[in-house]
Amino acid sequence: MSAAGDLFPGPRGPAGPAGRTVIVGVTGGIAAYKVCEVVSRLVKLGARVYVVMTRAATKFVAPLTFQTLSGNPVFIEMLEPPQLFNVEHVALAEKADLCVIAPATANIVAKIANGICDDLLTTVICATRAPVLICPAMNHNMYTNPIYQANEKRLRQLGYRFLEPGYGRLASGVVGRGRLPEPPEIVSAIASVFAGQGDYAGIEVLVTAGPTREFIDPVRCLSNPSSGKMGFAVAEAAAARGATVHLITGPSHLPDQAGVAVTRVVTAAEMHDAAIAAFSGDGVVIATAAVSDYRPPVALQHKIKKGAAHLTLELELTPDVLGSLGARKERAVLVGFAAETEDLIANARHKLVRKNLDLIVANDITEPGAGFETDTNIAHLVWPDGRIEQRPLETKRELAEHILTAVLPLVQRGAEGRDESPVTRGDPD
Ligand SMILES: Cc1cc2nc3c(=O)[nH]c(=O)nc-3n(C[C@H](O)[C@H](O)[C@H](O)COP(=O)(O)O)c2cc1C
Repeated sequence: MSAAGDLFPGPRGPAGPAGRTVIVGVTGGIAAYKVCEVVSRLVKLGARVYVVMTRAATKFVAPLTFQTLSGNPVFIEMLEPPQLFNVEHVALAEKADLCVIAPATANIVAKIANGICDDLLTTVICATRAPVLICPAMNHNMYTNPIYQANEKRLRQLGYRFLEPGYGRLASGVVGRGRLPEPPEIVSAIASVFAGQGDYAGIEVLVTAGPTREFIDPVRCLSNPSSGKMGFAVAEAAAARGATVHLITGPSHLPDQAGVAVTRVVTAAEMHDAAIAAFSGDGVVIATAAVSDYRPPVALQHKIKKGAAHLTLELELTPDVLGSLGARKERAVLVGFAAETEDLIANARHKLVRKNLDLIVANDITEPGAGFETDTNIAHLVWPDGRIEQRPLETKRELAEHILTAVLPLVQRGAEGRDESPVTRGDPD
């Protein structure tokens, strides 16, 4: 998928943060204060922590704070006499089982993406073979700046891991994306980098995402505005928690993710076949894709020419991805999504039963912040026993984490019953 496997071979040594050497890079962002708690938690978990600060970071938190919390000297200057190790940047880079940068400024992401080594932290990151987890935090406009986004994309492609920033009120007073996740989330992301440490370690998670396209002729298709963001967020969260993740996505502009097997398809039939082929009957299926329910019986070979005042399109049902998975599930836990415009709960309940689901996540796409293409969602979790859990407006990543936490006990218990059935057709979502 990327150079990740070669560049960052993965942590060595015992499982979990205990006994591991974690380099925590702190850069000049307002959220630097949160990282004091991250260091404190890592030390309590038994990690050896060395903090490397940029000069700008020292304006936000005194090095003495990190020195006291980590129990080690804090490293700042590149060209000063060494404090603890000979050739400090090389020693730190080699000792690291994991490097974490939190908060990561737009500046450091740009420098790493361009191979710049003009201070101790950038030089350590360039020199290390350990996995690098970057936790960006910045103003919303900086985060969405295409230059920043291109730098992040480049680093992701090279195998650097990113913890997505949260959505909410930023230090500037603006509400948007760019907030550093809370310390427990950062520590859990760190823990999950160490193999087998996530609560989903050893669990298969199959995710569907995005829209499908049903071609009418070579230049026209039936589709919908789904971006794939919800499914990609689920896949990323599950991978970060140690799951073996297979993401099957319809056309989406989102890039492949490190640690996630991605199959890209176009039509509902292709998504159906890919999902059935990938489905083992175990683990969890989280079906977020907005699959087209209908398609033209044949895609014309040549473009329909403009002429007639009216054109009637004949459509047929597409294969039912979720229905077929539901009919095949053995011990697997099946989670569906329902995007509705009316009678949200009643429609969701109906779909939950029809498709043999263990949970359905319903959202009213007419609500602001809950529709296609947004970074946020407002969901209702509807369970077979009648429970309904209303979630607040939250990022798709936050919702993804919540769903994974909610279904984990079911996965661990193992669902019962198996019914080998062929393709289900004729049951539109
Ligand atoms: C009060 C204040 C808060 C800042 N917060 C951030 C931030 O959250 N994220 C960011 O990318 N830059 C932030 N900056 C800008 C960085 O400090 C600046 O780009 C600096 O050069 C980063 O240096 P470094 O990456 O070497 O730490 C902030 C600046 C100030 C004055």
